[in-house]
Amino acid sequence: MIVESKNNNNNVKKTEEIAAAAADEAAVSSSSISSPATTSANNTSTSTTSVSASSASSATTTTTAVTTGGVATTTTTTTTTTDRGVAGVSYRTPLAYGTKISGKDQSKTAYNVETAIQEGFRHIVTCGHHSSNNESGVGMGLQNAYTNNNVGIERKDLFLQTCFVPFTGNKHDFLRQSSDPPEIELLTMSIEDQVHLSIKTSLRNLKTTYLDAYIFHNFRAKLYDTNEMLKAWKVFEEYVDQGIIKHLGLTSVHNAKWFEKTFFNTNNNNSTTTTTQMIPRITPTIIQNRFHSNRQYDVGAMQEIFHGTTTNNKYSKLQIQRFWILNGSSGGGRFHTELATKKGLSAAQLLLSFVMTQQETCLVGTNNLQHMKEDIVISKCYHTIFHSEQERNDYSKKLGMKQQPVGKQLPGSYNGGGGGSGSISDNPGSGSCNATTE
Ligand SMILES: NC(=O)c1ccc[n+]([C@@H]2O[C@H](COP(=O)([O-])OP(=O)(O)OC[C@H]3O[C@@H](n4cnc5c(N)ncnc54)[C@H](OP(=O)(O)O)[C@@H]3O)[C@@H](O)[C@H]2O)c1
Repeated sequence: MIVESKNNNNNVKKTEEIAAAAADEAAVSSSSISSPATTSANNTSTSTTSVSASSASSATTTTTAVTTGGVATTTTTTTTTTDRGVAGVSYRTPLAYGTKISGKDQSKTAYNVETAIQEGFRHIVTCGHHSSNNESGVGMGLQNAYTNNNVGIERKDLFLQTCFVPFTGNKHDFLRQSSDPPEIELLTMSIEDQVHLSIKTSLRNLKTTYLDAYIFHNFRAKLYDTNEMLKAWKVFEEYVDQGIIKHLGLTSVHNAKWFEKTFFNTNNNNSTTTTTQMIPRITPTIIQNRFHSNRQYDVGAMQEIFHGTTTNNKYSKLQIQRFWILNGSSGGGRFHTELATKKGLSAAQLLLSFVMTQQETCLVGTNNLQHMKEDIVISKCYHTIFHSEQERNDYSKKLGMKQQPVGKQLPGSYNGGGGGSGSISDNPGSGSCNATTE
């Protein structure tokens, strides 16, 4: 419980100043601010009602009135669509390029990012002030991609995500930037000022005037102090208000109760008390978690939050991103080599396709061109790989995934539909991609 702070005009002023500076500094040829990265449901010229059906799909009900021979008839059709465009700026992409890399290899970042974009990655995930990410190298890679005629993309064609690393409490992972004040000053800064400095630095590093997503980074699956996190979040919200940030999120959330209470517990506002929990105005749309057996692959309460499908689900806008898919406890899928070979895939591709059918976003940070190509191919045909729910279930068992409670099925579906087994009936699943790479 914390005392709700008053609106800090000083903070708002800083937000505006940083916005103006970013607009001046962005040396990017294509830096116009695009509209928020959401994808709307189908539109038709007839009467259309859109209903959010699940965390990764929307159902569009179209009513068509036809009058024939004086008799009026009405036809109602419902279509389910997923909003997971690969070559677009949706925050629900099946695949994103992660720029984490060891310190000694960070000179490769610019080249890797340019190459990843050239190969088809459109969602780039990096992290500011993080010792394993070279954010300014990412900016160079982006710049090179914009000016490379073979790539032919602009800022608006990408989904750029970076993160906020609190300066204190992360001794080994925090990376001071050359433009920052001395470390002694950084360590005594308020968390609000840390956020301002970080956003300013990220905008400059990434040569952009806006960020598609900004994530609060929790290290090693341990949540940062909630009170401090919420103070930081308040500043995040000001940048959303200004249109500088489009989506907010956080990493490593494995405690469903904490998540609910911190971000969604609207019952806490009791006017008879002076101390109320600060409830964020803008709720997270992205959670970045490990795909790992030591957290039960989030089967259970967290999965309910990530993938609950009840009507008007308050978490329906959440998208889960996964790291440690290929280098975690699932062994890069190597236990499934036989099945992968049968399907004409590599074990890594089969594992990625499984996670994608769960409607989750796979973060991969490959340095290898062939792997980039393979990852892109699977992001386009993951919904054709598994033949049935049974096959997907068997695969999850072999992965060591905690099994779903009786009567519950795995999130997503074998054929990529958001609403469970067989929801896209014209896509029976061929069981393989046409080629290992395009
Ligand atoms: N929030 C957090 O705490 C956190 C922690 C870790 C990572 N992340 C995010 O997640 C991103 C991914 O990191 P990660 O730790 O999951 O691992 P990663 O850096 O993606 O590494 C995965 C491994 O998979 C290999 N690989 C990729 N595609 C392959 C393919 N098609 N076939 C075979 N091998 C393939 C890569 O090797 P090659 O280079 O040889 O292809 C690499 O050894 C990071 O960049 C970061 O954005 C977040």
